[in-house]
Amino acid sequence: SRQWRGVLHEYADRLNITAATPIITLGEGGTPLIPAPALSARTGAKVWVKFEGMNPTGSFKDRGMTMAISKAVEHGAKAVICASTGNTSASAAAYATHAGITAAVLVPEGKIAMGKLSQAIAHDAELLQVQGNFDDCLDIARELAANYPVHLVNSVNPDRIEGQKTAAFEVVEVLQDAPDFHIVPVGNAGNYTAYFRGYSEELERGATTKLPRMFGFQAAGSAPIVVGHVVKHPETIASAIRIGNPASWSLAIDAREKSDGYFGAISDAHILEAHRILSAEVGIFVEPASAISVAGLLERAEAGMIPAGSTVVLTVTGHGLKDPQWALRAADGSDIKPTIVPVDVPEIAGVLGLSKAT
Ligand code: F0G
Repeated sequence: SRQWRGVLHEYADRLNITAATPIITLGEGGTPLIPAPALSARTGAKVWVKFEGMNPTGSFKDRGMTMAISKAVEHGAKAVICASTGNTSASAAAYATHAGITAAVLVPEGKIAMGKLSQAIAHDAELLQVQGNFDDCLDIARELAANYPVHLVNSVNPDRIEGQKTAAFEVVEVLQDAPDFHIVPVGNAGNYTAYFRGYSEELERGATTKLPRMFGFQAAGSAPIVVGHVVKHPETIASAIRIGNPASWSLAIDAREKSDGYFGAISDAHILEAHRILSAEVGIFVEPASAISVAGLLERAEAGMIPAGSTVVLTVTGHGLKDPQWALRAADGSDIKPTIVPVDVPEIAGVLGLSKAT
């Protein structure tokens, strides 16, 4: 057995890297594809969960960031910049620090989860809270990168999508084919685009017999692709995907057409319900944006759109520990307060409903 070496080493033959590319890696990728019997029972499909929270900074962004930072360093960059709803900033900060360069990150003020804010600061990023939303941050980052000596590492940088496509390679390695459906959360639609590219390349080289139907889900208050126009003031509790003007919009439309795919919108209430189902029935803890994959599956299955026995892969994009507060909320919105007990075995046994073995 050997240690997983990160996606650039593992897939060197399928990425645009050369002997001149310094490989900046924290060992990203190689994440588990986990069977989810509870979701299979609910839907009649064979459901697998690709748990991207298992990456070094706790989200799928690390696959793209190893590529983007490696290429930036190859091209002599001393500083990178990104706009972020949190995960990209955490990842950029970690990989830039590892490479010995500077990361500047622009986040919407007061709108990113505490875990992600902590990561960017811990990894020594230059973090600025912008008095605007994510779309404003991205506009500023693009303008700065166009006019100042700083390299953009948002997913408008094609190296990001390249790195992220490796997740599809891993799914195919496990299933020995593409799934019938692949479901992802959608914000900028970079990851939707990346999976489509990964699967297309697998089909082209004969590793699969088909493309999966690519299903993407946006939060109902932030669903520009579903409603067909920019959303000026996007809202959702799923802060990671609170995006009104997706950067990879047209690439995603193309991917939907070519894969007979679908984009749908999910209410915050259904996102939180799916979050509870994934935590309490499957044993996988994710941030709210990731739970939208589960909510999307349940919605499509309910609508009769997932034939029985289909193989479905759900990508869950970020770890629950980044934004844990949602687990402490009951379905009715009230706070969950763990029971307090004294240091007393019989009393604790009583509270747990245990009676002494005889
Ligand atoms: N899930 C999580 C946890 C995310 O952080 C993001 C995007 C997405 C899904 C959507 O992916 O943008 O490729 O469609 N987060 C970005 C960020 C915007 O700044 O961390 P997408």
